Amino acid sequence: MEITVIHSAASQHTTSCLVVGVAADKLTTPLLQRLDKALGGSLGLAIESGEFSGSVKQSLLLHGNTQLACARILLIGLGKEQDLNREGLRRAGAAAAQQLRERRLTEGTLAVTEVSPPGLPLEAVAGAWLEGLVLADYRFERYLSPDPKRLPALQHLTVLAGVEKNLATLRKAVRRTEILCRGVLLARDLVNEPGNIKSPAFLAERATDLAGEVGLECTILDQAALEKEGFGALLGVAQGSFRPPKLIVLQHRGAEDEPPVVLIGKGVVFDSGGISLKPGENMDQMKMDMAGGATVLGTLLVAALLQLPVNLVGIVPAVENLPSGSAFRPGDILKSLAGKTIEVLNTDAEGRLILADALTYAQRFNPREVIDVATLTGACIIALGHHAAALLGNHKELLDRLQQAGEICGERLWPLPLWEEYTRQLKSEVADLKNIGGRAAGTITAAAFLQHFAKEYRWAHLDIAGTAWQEKDSDYRPVGGTGFGVRLLIEYLSGSFTDPDQTKNAPNP
Ligand code: BES
Ligand code: MN
Ligand code: ZN
Repeated sequence: MEITVIHSAASQHTTSCLVVGVAADKLTTPLLQRLDKALGGSLGLAIESGEFSGSVKQSLLLHGNTQLACARILLIGLGKEQDLNREGLRRAGAAAAQQLRERRLTEGTLAVTEVSPPGLPLEAVAGAWLEGLVLADYRFERYLSPDPKRLPALQHLTVLAGVEKNLATLRKAVRRTEILCRGVLLARDLVNEPGNIKSPAFLAERATDLAGEVGLECTILDQAALEKEGFGALLGVAQGSFRPPKLIVLQHRGAEDEPPVVLIGKGVVFDSGGISLKPGENMDQMKMDMAGGATVLGTLLVAALLQLPVNLVGIVPAVENLPSGSAFRPGDILKSLAGKTIEVLNTDAEGRLILADALTYAQRFNPREVIDVATLTGACIIALGHHAAALLGNHKELLDRLQQAGEICGERLWPLPLWEEYTRQLKSEVADLKNIGGRAAGTITAAAFLQHFAKEYRWAHLDIAGTAWQEKDSDYRPVGGTGFGVRLLIEYLSGSFTDPDQTKNAPNP
């Protein structure tokens, strides 16, 4: 979708559809009055009759006439102005995208200045509208044959600056949103890619290409390098697949000599469970088990394009978890990169094994903090459903900041405790640790396992098992991969470098 900003009066601008957000308590703005007049009062009638009241989820399409340059006017209800926030605007953008698509309109115009929700500058208002529009209009259609019956995507969107002085602000919002959405859509594309195409090597290649395009440093550790270094836990998971593992390392240098933020994303390109095989039902969805990795790649892409003034390292351990004659088995003992031995009691608890080695590897970058993102436990879906990711870690302030970023961008996080009691569930008789902690508190014991490998730095863990995948369309999240975490991490990173305390590198006691 191409987006341009122009300065023009809404009623004089030629477009196939003029989209106007309308607050329930602001039904008579100057623009609406002008439009009503040109329409001969039909808008006023729709309001008087109660057909359109500006409440959330309502919309009204009116056709233009010779008095107007626009062919259609689409009103989107926003609810009361004082209750309106970024998420409401994203949803309004999604509603607009859906309406345009249903009518096969590939071009439209957005009047963003009609509402001013409390505390939201114009840049944020425009950004949220556009985010909703762009993210809602995404479809994964790479493997569909051309079909004239399929509804077309939006090709071009014009953003109207009613007054000239808003032009620069709106252009800035458009540019930032375009870049942000590019990262989210990259993550979605990677998650939606089927397992037969998406090998660890495929991810590594995509990462290498992207790095070249946007100026990131990229290193790929192949099987031989991983063996030489001693990534025993990661290699144990990988050994059942004949597609060899890769460790993808991307670096963005946005600041001089500051210690980097290290982002780690689980990259299991397909999780069958291994010898502890998963049930067949919905197993196809386990192609999404690299969603954390996709989030990290998307975030690095955005950071590079926005030239964020932070140093960033992205690490994606990419493996496939399959049962085979060469697969690791329940009862195996693996030696991790950290030197700790791990008794594997369930080969389906593979994410924590590859993350353990990635967390250890992260130490080499002398990080300011480490954030891992992973579709780690089914238990997370039981705990929080699909509306929030679980948040755990060892540094309260880091967790609070991440949670705040989540509230702003609409990718919500909710904390779970990591008390020492949970760690006891991971004691093994024959190794330093076992890889499962029983049925109780599955999300927490998975994080407690990771904690053993994240002792040397500030660390946060995001379990995105419930939020990485959408079973059906919902607002600006169409069916399939959601790209969850890209907007969150960029929001966090955009705010965090102002932290005066940022160079302190130790976890809370
Ligand atoms: N990738 C899964 C977790 C998952 C489940 C993600 C559903 C998204 C949707 C993970 O590797 C896994 O299999 N976890 C096991 C752990 C158990 C064996 C301790 C689980 O949650 O069942
Ligand atoms: Mn698994
Ligand atoms: Zn998994």
